[in-house]
Amino acid sequence: MKHKPLLLQLYVCMLFISGLTGQQVWARDSVRIKAFALGVPKAELHIHLEGTLEPEHYLKLVADNELEAKYATVEAVQERLLDQRDLNSFIEVYEELLSAMRTEEDFYEVALAYCRKATSQGVVYVEMFFDPQMHTARGIKIETVMQGLIRAQTKAATSLGLKLNFIACFNRDRTADSAAEHLENLVPWQEVILGVGLDNPEEIGFPTKFTEVFARARELGFRLTTHCDVNVPNTLAHHYGAIDLLKVERIDHGLNVADDPALLAIVKERGIGLTACPTLLYLDLPGRMEARAGAVKTLLEAGIPICVNSDDPGMMRSLYVGDLLAITVETADLNRDQTLELARNSFRIAWLTEKKPRTTSHQLTPLQKIIRFLSKEKNDMGI
Ligand code: ADE
Ligand code: ZN
Repeated sequence: MKHKPLLLQLYVCMLFISGLTGQQVWARDSVRIKAFALGVPKAELHIHLEGTLEPEHYLKLVADNELEAKYATVEAVQERLLDQRDLNSFIEVYEELLSAMRTEEDFYEVALAYCRKATSQGVVYVEMFFDPQMHTARGIKIETVMQGLIRAQTKAATSLGLKLNFIACFNRDRTADSAAEHLENLVPWQEVILGVGLDNPEEIGFPTKFTEVFARARELGFRLTTHCDVNVPNTLAHHYGAIDLLKVERIDHGLNVADDPALLAIVKERGIGLTACPTLLYLDLPGRMEARAGAVKTLLEAGIPICVNSDDPGMMRSLYVGDLLAITVETADLNRDQTLELARNSFRIAWLTEKKPRTTSHQLTPLQKIIRFLSKEKNDMGI
Protein backbone atom coordinates (compact mmCIF):
# COMPACT_ATOMS: atom_id res chain seq x y z
CA MET A 1 0.00 0.00 0.00
CA LYS A 2 2.89 2.30 0.88
CA HIS A 3 4.06 2.36 -2.76
CA LYS A 4 0.65 3.12 -4.29
CA PRO A 5 1.16 6.89 -4.86
CA LEU A 6 4.61 6.29 -6.35
CA LEU A 7 3.23 3.65 -8.72
CA LEU A 8 0.38 5.99 -9.67
CA GLN A 9 2.83 8.78 -10.47
CA LEU A 10 4.99 6.39 -12.49
CA TYR A 11 1.88 5.33 -14.38
CA VAL A 12 0.88 8.89 -15.33
CA CYS A 13 4.50 9.60 -16.24
CA MET A 14 4.51 6.59 -18.60
CA LEU A 15 1.28 7.80 -20.13
CA PHE A 16 2.92 11.17 -20.69
CA ILE A 17 6.05 9.70 -22.29
CA SER A 18 3.94 7.48 -24.55
CA GLY A 19 2.09 10.61 -25.60
CA LEU A 20 5.35 12.41 -26.42
CA THR A 21 6.23 10.04 -29.23
CA GLY A 22 4.77 9.97 -32.71
CA GLN A 23 4.02 13.55 -33.75
CA GLN A 24 2.43 12.37 -36.99
CA VAL A 25 -0.45 10.57 -35.26
CA TRP A 26 -1.13 13.35 -32.72
CA ALA A 27 -3.87 15.16 -34.54
CA ARG A 28 -6.02 12.13 -35.12
CA ASP A 29 -5.26 9.77 -32.27
CA SER A 30 -7.51 10.25 -29.25
CA VAL A 31 -5.61 7.66 -27.24
CA ARG A 32 -2.31 9.52 -27.57
CA ILE A 33 -3.93 12.86 -26.86
CA LYS A 34 -5.55 11.44 -23.75
CA ALA A 35 -2.28 9.86 -22.61
CA PHE A 36 -0.42 13.13 -23.06
CA ALA A 37 -3.12 15.25 -21.40
CA LEU A 38 -3.36 12.93 -18.41
CA GLY A 39 0.36 12.47 -17.99
CA VAL A 40 1.72 15.98 -18.51
CA PRO A 41 2.36 17.49 -15.06
CA LYS A 42 -0.23 20.18 -14.34
CA ALA A 43 -1.21 22.74 -11.74
CA GLU A 44 -4.95 23.02 -11.00
CA LEU A 45 -5.77 26.64 -10.17
CA HIS A 46 -9.56 26.75 -10.43
CA ILE A 47 -11.18 24.08 -8.31
CA HIS A 48 -13.78 24.67 -5.58
CA LEU A 49 -13.41 22.43 -2.53
CA GLU A 50 -17.20 22.33 -2.12
CA GLY A 51 -17.76 21.63 -5.83
CA THR A 52 -15.57 18.52 -5.68
CA LEU A 53 -18.12 16.78 -3.45
CA GLU A 54 -19.38 13.73 -5.35
CA PRO A 55 -22.96 12.40 -4.77
CA GLU A 56 -21.57 9.22 -3.13
CA HIS A 57 -19.48 11.27 -0.71
CA TYR A 58 -22.43 13.59 0.02
CA LEU A 59 -24.54 10.57 1.05
CA LYS A 60 -21.72 9.33 3.29
CA LEU A 61 -21.52 12.72 5.05
CA VAL A 62 -25.30 12.77 5.53
CA ALA A 63 -25.10 9.34 7.18
CA ASP A 64 -21.97 10.12 9.26
CA ASN A 65 -23.49 13.34 10.57
CA GLU A 66 -26.92 11.77 11.09
CA LEU A 67 -28.60 14.46 8.98
CA GLU A 68 -32.08 14.26 7.54
CA ALA A 69 -31.74 12.09 4.41
CA LYS A 70 -33.37 14.06 1.59
CA TYR A 71 -32.09 11.65 -1.04
CA ALA A 72 -32.08 7.89 -0.63
CA THR A 73 -29.73 6.99 -3.47
CA VAL A 74 -26.88 8.32 -5.62
CA GLU A 75 -29.35 8.45 -8.51
CA ALA A 76 -31.66 10.71 -6.49
CA VAL A 77 -28.76 13.12 -5.82
CA GLN A 78 -27.85 13.03 -9.50
CA GLU A 79 -31.45 13.86 -10.31
CA ARG A 80 -31.18 16.93 -8.08
CA LEU A 81 -27.99 17.93 -9.90
CA LEU A 82 -30.04 18.06 -13.09
CA ASP A 83 -31.77 21.15 -11.70
CA GLN A 84 -28.79 23.31 -12.71
CA ARG A 85 -29.83 25.60 -15.54
CA ASP A 86 -27.52 28.53 -14.94
CA LEU A 87 -25.09 29.86 -12.34
CA ASN A 88 -27.84 30.86 -9.88
CA SER A 89 -29.57 27.49 -9.92
CA PHE A 90 -26.18 25.76 -9.74
CA ILE A 91 -25.31 27.72 -6.58
CA GLU A 92 -28.62 26.63 -5.00
CA VAL A 93 -27.69 22.98 -5.51
CA TYR A 94 -24.10 23.69 -4.40
CA GLU A 95 -25.25 25.28 -1.11
CA GLU A 96 -27.69 22.49 -0.43
CA LEU A 97 -25.13 19.70 -0.87
CA LEU A 98 -22.19 21.39 0.84
CA SER A 99 -24.35 21.75 3.97
CA ALA A 100 -23.55 18.08 4.68
CA MET A 101 -19.96 19.13 5.48
CA ARG A 102 -19.91 19.71 9.22
CA THR A 103 -16.80 18.49 11.00
CA GLU A 104 -13.06 18.95 10.66
CA GLU A 105 -12.93 15.35 9.43
CA ASP A 106 -15.46 16.16 6.66
CA PHE A 107 -13.34 19.05 5.33
CA TYR A 108 -10.24 16.85 5.55
CA GLU A 109 -11.90 13.97 3.70
CA VAL A 110 -13.43 16.05 0.92
CA ALA A 111 -10.17 17.89 0.22
CA LEU A 112 -8.14 14.69 0.31
CA ALA A 113 -10.56 12.76 -1.91
CA TYR A 114 -10.08 15.49 -4.51
CA CYS A 115 -6.28 15.32 -4.16
CA ARG A 116 -6.32 11.57 -4.83
CA LYS A 117 -8.42 12.11 -7.94
CA ALA A 118 -6.17 14.98 -9.07
CA THR A 119 -3.04 12.84 -8.68
CA SER A 120 -4.52 10.24 -11.03
CA GLN A 121 -5.02 13.08 -13.54
CA GLY A 122 -1.37 14.22 -13.50
CA VAL A 123 -1.90 17.19 -11.15
CA VAL A 124 1.11 17.93 -8.93
CA TYR A 125 0.13 21.32 -7.55
CA VAL A 126 -3.27 22.71 -6.49
CA GLU A 127 -4.54 26.12 -5.42
CA MET A 128 -7.96 25.20 -4.07
CA PHE A 129 -10.81 27.67 -3.60
CA PHE A 130 -13.07 27.41 -0.60
CA ASP A 131 -16.03 29.57 0.49
CA PRO A 132 -15.56 30.58 4.16
CA GLN A 133 -18.86 32.51 4.31
CA MET A 134 -20.90 29.49 3.23
CA HIS A 135 -19.62 27.63 6.28
CA THR A 136 -19.61 30.37 8.93
CA ALA A 137 -23.17 31.33 7.85
CA ARG A 138 -24.20 27.78 8.89
CA GLY A 139 -22.52 28.09 12.27
CA ILE A 140 -19.33 26.19 11.35
CA LYS A 141 -16.25 27.77 12.89
CA ILE A 142 -13.51 28.90 10.54
CA GLU A 143 -11.07 26.94 12.79
CA THR A 144 -12.96 23.72 11.98
CA VAL A 145 -12.66 24.37 8.24
CA MET A 146 -9.00 25.37 8.37
CA GLN A 147 -7.86 22.54 10.63
CA GLY A 148 -9.42 20.00 8.26
CA LEU A 149 -7.86 21.68 5.22
CA ILE A 150 -4.41 21.90 6.80
CA ARG A 151 -4.54 18.19 7.69
CA ALA A 152 -5.44 17.43 4.06
CA GLN A 153 -2.53 19.57 2.91
CA THR A 154 -0.09 17.58 5.05
CA LYS A 155 -1.53 14.21 4.03
CA ALA A 156 -1.52 15.14 0.31
CA ALA A 157 2.16 16.08 0.55
CA THR A 158 3.25 12.99 2.44
CA SER A 159 1.09 10.31 0.80
CA LEU A 160 0.61 11.65 -2.74
CA GLY A 161 3.55 14.01 -3.28
CA LEU A 162 0.99 16.68 -4.21
CA LYS A 163 1.38 20.26 -3.00
CA LEU A 164 -1.88 21.88 -1.91
CA ASN A 165 -2.51 25.54 -1.10
CA PHE A 166 -5.75 27.47 -0.64
CA ILE A 167 -7.56 30.58 -1.92
CA ALA A 168 -10.48 31.97 0.12
CA CYS A 169 -13.37 33.12 -2.07
CA PHE A 170 -15.81 35.75 -0.91
CA ASN A 171 -19.32 35.53 -2.32
CA ARG A 172 -20.29 38.33 -4.70
CA ASP A 173 -23.94 38.14 -3.60
CA ARG A 174 -23.01 38.90 0.03
CA THR A 175 -21.97 42.27 1.40
CA ALA A 176 -18.51 43.82 1.24
CA ASP A 177 -18.69 44.17 5.05
CA SER A 178 -19.05 40.42 5.42
CA ALA A 179 -16.07 39.90 3.08
CA ALA A 180 -14.01 42.45 5.07
CA GLU A 181 -14.81 40.75 8.38
CA HIS A 182 -13.93 37.30 7.04
CA LEU A 183 -10.71 38.64 5.51
CA GLU A 184 -9.41 39.77 8.92
CA ASN A 185 -10.36 36.40 10.42
CA LEU A 186 -8.29 34.59 7.78
CA VAL A 187 -5.02 36.37 8.60
CA PRO A 188 -3.86 33.67 11.09
CA TRP A 189 -3.93 31.15 8.21
CA GLN A 190 -2.05 33.22 5.67
CA GLU A 191 0.71 30.68 5.36
CA VAL A 192 -1.69 28.26 3.64
CA ILE A 193 -4.21 30.73 2.19
CA LEU A 194 -2.15 32.34 -0.54
CA GLY A 195 -4.81 34.64 -1.88
CA VAL A 196 -8.43 35.73 -2.03
CA GLY A 197 -10.96 35.54 -4.83
CA LEU A 198 -14.64 36.23 -5.54
CA ASP A 199 -17.28 33.75 -6.67
CA ASN A 200 -21.06 33.08 -6.65
CA PRO A 201 -23.43 35.02 -8.95
CA GLU A 202 -22.22 38.36 -10.36
CA GLU A 203 -24.68 40.60 -8.55
CA ILE A 204 -25.13 44.28 -9.28
CA GLY A 205 -22.25 46.13 -7.63
CA PHE A 206 -19.53 43.70 -8.69
CA PRO A 207 -16.68 44.50 -8.89
CA THR A 208 -16.85 48.06 -7.49
CA LYS A 209 -18.22 47.13 -4.08
CA PHE A 210 -15.16 44.97 -3.31
CA THR A 211 -12.54 47.63 -4.14
CA GLU A 212 -11.68 48.40 -0.50
CA VAL A 213 -11.68 44.77 0.62
CA PHE A 214 -9.26 43.90 -2.15
CA ALA A 215 -7.02 46.87 -1.34
CA ARG A 216 -6.90 45.67 2.28
CA ALA A 217 -6.21 42.07 1.17
CA ARG A 218 -3.32 43.33 -0.97
CA GLU A 219 -1.99 45.33 1.97
CA LEU A 220 -2.11 42.15 4.10
CA GLY A 221 -0.04 40.32 1.48
CA PHE A 222 -2.78 38.14 -0.08
CA ARG A 223 -2.61 37.48 -3.83
CA LEU A 224 -5.74 38.53 -5.77
CA THR A 225 -8.04 36.87 -8.26
CA THR A 226 -11.74 36.99 -9.13
CA HIS A 227 -14.25 35.01 -11.13
CA CYS A 228 -15.56 36.70 -14.26
CA ASP A 229 -17.98 34.04 -15.42
CA VAL A 230 -18.59 33.44 -19.13
CA ASN A 231 -21.30 35.33 -21.04
CA VAL A 232 -22.96 36.94 -18.00
CA PRO A 233 -24.57 40.38 -18.42
CA ASN A 234 -22.00 43.23 -18.46
CA THR A 235 -19.15 40.77 -18.55
CA LEU A 236 -16.70 43.09 -20.35
CA ALA A 237 -17.30 45.93 -17.86
CA HIS A 238 -16.75 43.42 -15.05
CA HIS A 239 -13.41 42.37 -16.54
CA TYR A 240 -12.25 45.99 -16.85
CA GLY A 241 -13.35 46.69 -13.27
CA ALA A 242 -11.62 43.58 -11.95
CA ILE A 243 -8.36 44.78 -13.51
CA ASP A 244 -8.59 48.53 -12.82
CA LEU A 245 -10.36 48.58 -9.43
CA LEU A 246 -9.59 45.24 -7.82
CA LYS A 247 -6.12 45.00 -9.41
CA VAL A 248 -6.32 41.24 -9.78
CA GLU A 249 -3.39 39.15 -11.01
CA ARG A 250 -5.62 36.43 -12.40
CA ILE A 251 -9.18 36.12 -13.70
CA ASP A 252 -11.10 32.88 -13.14
CA HIS A 253 -12.87 31.85 -16.36
CA GLY A 254 -12.23 35.09 -18.29
CA LEU A 255 -13.01 33.60 -21.71
CA ASN A 256 -14.88 36.73 -22.82
CA VAL A 257 -11.47 38.47 -23.01
CA ALA A 258 -11.37 36.91 -26.48
CA ASP A 259 -14.33 39.14 -27.51
CA ASP A 260 -12.65 42.52 -26.97
CA PRO A 261 -9.28 43.31 -28.63
CA ALA A 262 -8.62 46.28 -26.29
CA LEU A 263 -9.23 44.14 -23.20
CA LEU A 264 -7.13 41.34 -24.65
CA ALA A 265 -4.25 43.79 -25.16
CA ILE A 266 -4.45 44.94 -21.51
CA VAL A 267 -4.60 41.37 -20.18
CA LYS A 268 -1.59 40.45 -22.31
CA GLU A 269 0.43 43.52 -21.42
CA ARG A 270 -0.11 43.00 -17.68
CA GLY A 271 0.46 39.24 -17.86
CA ILE A 272 -2.90 38.51 -16.21
CA GLY A 273 -3.48 34.76 -16.06
CA LEU A 274 -6.79 33.18 -17.05
CA THR A 275 -7.96 29.99 -15.33
CA ALA A 276 -10.40 28.76 -17.96
CA CYS A 277 -12.92 25.99 -17.35
CA PRO A 278 -14.27 24.62 -20.62
CA THR A 279 -16.48 22.62 -18.28
CA LEU A 280 -19.02 20.17 -19.50
CA LEU A 281 -22.05 20.97 -17.37
CA TYR A 282 -24.35 18.14 -16.44
CA LEU A 283 -26.89 19.75 -18.71
CA ASP A 284 -24.53 20.70 -21.47
CA LEU A 285 -25.80 23.08 -24.10
CA PRO A 286 -25.19 22.23 -27.76
CA GLY A 287 -22.06 23.95 -29.06
CA ARG A 288 -20.95 25.11 -25.62
CA MET A 289 -17.79 22.98 -25.42
CA GLU A 290 -16.84 24.00 -28.97
CA ALA A 291 -17.25 27.70 -28.11
CA ARG A 292 -15.25 27.44 -24.89
CA ALA A 293 -12.45 25.30 -26.32
CA GLY A 294 -12.32 27.68 -29.30
CA ALA A 295 -11.91 30.68 -26.98
CA VAL A 296 -9.10 28.87 -25.12
CA LYS A 297 -7.32 28.39 -28.46
CA THR A 298 -7.83 32.02 -29.52
CA LEU A 299 -6.43 33.31 -26.23
CA LEU A 300 -3.52 30.86 -26.23
CA GLU A 301 -2.58 31.87 -29.77
CA ALA A 302 -2.79 35.54 -28.74
CA GLY A 303 -0.10 34.86 -26.11
CA ILE A 304 -2.34 35.10 -23.03
CA PRO A 305 -1.17 32.96 -20.09
CA ILE A 306 -4.21 30.71 -19.97
CA CYS A 307 -4.63 27.20 -18.55
CA VAL A 308 -7.41 24.61 -18.34
CA ASN A 309 -9.11 23.78 -15.02
CA SER A 310 -12.05 21.76 -13.75
CA ASP A 311 -14.11 24.15 -11.50
CA ASP A 312 -16.75 21.93 -9.77
CA PRO A 313 -16.28 18.41 -11.12
CA GLY A 314 -18.18 16.65 -8.31
CA MET A 315 -21.29 18.77 -8.40
CA MET A 316 -21.36 19.53 -12.11
CA ARG A 317 -20.70 15.83 -12.78
CA SER A 318 -18.15 17.14 -15.25
CA LEU A 319 -14.61 16.04 -15.95
CA TYR A 320 -11.41 16.23 -13.94
CA VAL A 321 -8.64 18.27 -15.42
CA GLY A 322 -6.60 15.67 -17.37
CA ASP A 323 -9.71 14.36 -19.12
CA LEU A 324 -10.95 17.91 -19.64
CA LEU A 325 -7.63 18.97 -21.17
CA ALA A 326 -7.85 16.02 -23.59
CA ILE A 327 -11.38 17.00 -24.70
CA THR A 328 -10.32 20.64 -25.06
CA VAL A 329 -7.37 19.61 -27.22
CA GLU A 330 -9.51 17.40 -29.45
CA THR A 331 -12.38 19.88 -29.71
CA ALA A 332 -10.20 22.88 -30.59
CA ASP A 333 -7.70 20.77 -32.53
CA LEU A 334 -4.73 21.99 -30.50
CA ASN A 335 -1.29 20.66 -31.41
CA ARG A 336 1.14 19.12 -28.96
CA ASP A 337 3.13 22.32 -28.38
CA GLN A 338 -0.08 24.18 -27.56
CA THR A 339 -1.10 21.43 -25.15
CA LEU A 340 2.27 21.65 -23.44
CA GLU A 341 1.93 25.43 -23.32
CA LEU A 342 -1.37 25.11 -21.43
CA ALA A 343 0.40 22.90 -18.86
CA ARG A 344 3.37 25.29 -18.62
CA ASN A 345 1.01 28.24 -18.18
CA SER A 346 -0.60 26.56 -15.19
CA PHE A 347 2.77 26.77 -13.38
CA ARG A 348 3.67 30.21 -14.78
CA ILE A 349 0.57 31.83 -13.30
CA ALA A 350 0.52 29.74 -10.11
CA TRP A 351 1.36 31.50 -6.86
CA LEU A 352 4.06 29.01 -6.06
CA THR A 353 6.53 30.13 -3.48
CA GLU A 354 9.17 27.80 -4.91
CA LYS A 355 9.18 29.36 -8.36
CA LYS A 356 12.87 30.29 -8.38
CA PRO A 357 14.89 27.10 -8.65
CA ARG A 358 18.13 26.92 -6.75
CA THR A 359 21.26 26.50 -8.87
CA THR A 360 22.15 22.81 -8.71
CA SER A 361 19.56 20.26 -9.64
CA HIS A 362 20.10 17.99 -6.60
CA GLN A 363 18.90 20.89 -4.42
CA LEU A 364 15.56 21.09 -6.22
CA THR A 365 12.32 19.83 -4.70
CA PRO A 366 10.33 17.40 -6.91
CA LEU A 367 7.96 20.23 -7.84
CA GLN A 368 10.86 22.51 -8.83
CA LYS A 369 12.22 19.69 -11.02
CA ILE A 370 8.89 19.41 -12.83
CA ILE A 371 8.74 23.16 -13.40
CA ARG A 372 12.32 23.18 -14.70
CA PHE A 373 11.49 20.21 -16.97
CA LEU A 374 8.45 22.01 -18.40
CA SER A 375 10.38 25.26 -18.83
CA LYS A 376 12.96 23.69 -21.13
CA GLU A 377 12.80 24.29 -24.83
CA LYS A 378 10.84 21.64 -26.68
CA ASN A 379 13.98 20.29 -28.40
CA ASP A 380 15.60 19.59 -25.04
CA MET A 381 12.63 17.41 -24.29
CA GLY A 382 13.19 15.33 -27.40
CA ILE A 383 9.90 16.33 -28.97
N1 ADE B 1 -18.90 28.75 -7.26
C1 ADE B 1 -18.50 27.53 -7.61
N2 ADE B 1 -18.22 27.51 -8.92
C2 ADE B 1 -18.45 28.75 -9.40
C3 ADE B 1 -18.33 29.35 -10.66
N3 ADE B 1 -17.87 28.70 -11.72
N4 ADE B 1 -18.68 30.64 -10.78
C4 ADE B 1 -19.10 31.32 -9.73
N5 ADE B 1 -19.21 30.80 -8.52
C5 ADE B 1 -18.89 29.52 -8.36
ZN1 ZN C 1 -15.29 28.61 -10.35
